[in-house]
Amino acid sequence: MNPLPEMLPRLLIDWYRTHHRDLPWRKTRDPYAILISEVMLQQTRVETVIPYYRRFLERLPDFASLSQVPDEELLKLWQGLGYYRRAAMLKKTAIAVMREYGGVFPVDFETVLKLPGIGDYTAGAIFSIAFGQKRAAVDGNVLRVISRLNDDARDMTARAVRREIGNALESLYPDNAASEFTQSLMEIGATVCLPNGAPRCAECPLQTLCLALKRGIVALRPLKKHPKARKIEKKTFYLLRCNNKIALVRRPGQGMLANLYGFPGEDGLLPLAECRRRHRDWEIRPKSLAAKHIFTHIEWRMRWFRAETVREDPRFIWATREELEEKYPVPNAFSAYRKLL
Ligand code: ADE
Ligand code: SF4
Repeated sequence: MNPLPEMLPRLLIDWYRTHHRDLPWRKTRDPYAILISEVMLQQTRVETVIPYYRRFLERLPDFASLSQVPDEELLKLWQGLGYYRRAAMLKKTAIAVMREYGGVFPVDFETVLKLPGIGDYTAGAIFSIAFGQKRAAVDGNVLRVISRLNDDARDMTARAVRREIGNALESLYPDNAASEFTQSLMEIGATVCLPNGAPRCAECPLQTLCLALKRGIVALRPLKKHPKARKIEKKTFYLLRCNNKIALVRRPGQGMLANLYGFPGEDGLLPLAECRRRHRDWEIRPKSLAAKHIFTHIEWRMRWFRAETVREDPRFIWATREELEEKYPVPNAFSAYRKLL
């Protein structure tokens, strides 16, 4: 790849000092807190993460408390953030830090990379932001900025490209400002060099250096391959009630939305007559609600029915409305149930 401009850290850090957002994880150098924030931010937007981050740290302020939290409570703290495996992995990380390092986060980079749930990105973020070391944290935002800045037309999702960009950035890290350089790269990607043809080049501190801007091809970077079409899965769900309680189903420990709670249902968009045939002791209301939920690689197309039954079928968990809100982690994929309540 072309070398990165030497002025990059200076320009970005100066800009960052006056333009960065005041975010709660920017007030700490605790590796635990940085870890939690970075894992939450990996797939979720900043505005969504803020209240979750606060609540999580209040309830689970350190590796010790996280390592011992009941799974149910952990999922509840995560409920609504999506990508629930992240929460389970964080607990595994905490258990390993407790068991192997007495609750103290290791200060050796290679050691940290061996911890469960920690990859290059997360380790780079923690070591630069919390420890001030010259380690890059290359996420999608950073790759987008670099691909435009350098007019780099390679596939930014390739591991080798990501690694090369990480190495190129690491050779530029300034003394005494590693944390700011890492965060300035994230921040410019999140607030100025925006995705989908919406960058604010006129406000960008890199505009004099930016090759894609100079060549008028910002919209073509990063180069997009044809995305694989999402797999469409059709589902029928029931908001099934009995004695003022609502039927829930615990999802299996493996696969999509593992261990979370959902609603009774089946595969396929079933017509009313077929639903009634399958559930003869339910009173199924004729009016259905269509809903969809988009995951990373799968899209659920759903049909929801209201139903009542006179018997609390023991195959289900029967939750009061309060329990449904307070106790059971129900992922957003099922949020259509709220419209039916
Ligand atoms: N996205 C990923 N990490 C971030 C951070 N530390 N601050 C803001 N946005 C981010
Ligand atoms: Fe991104 Fe535009 Fe800045 Fe180039 S000038 S880095 S395209 S915002």
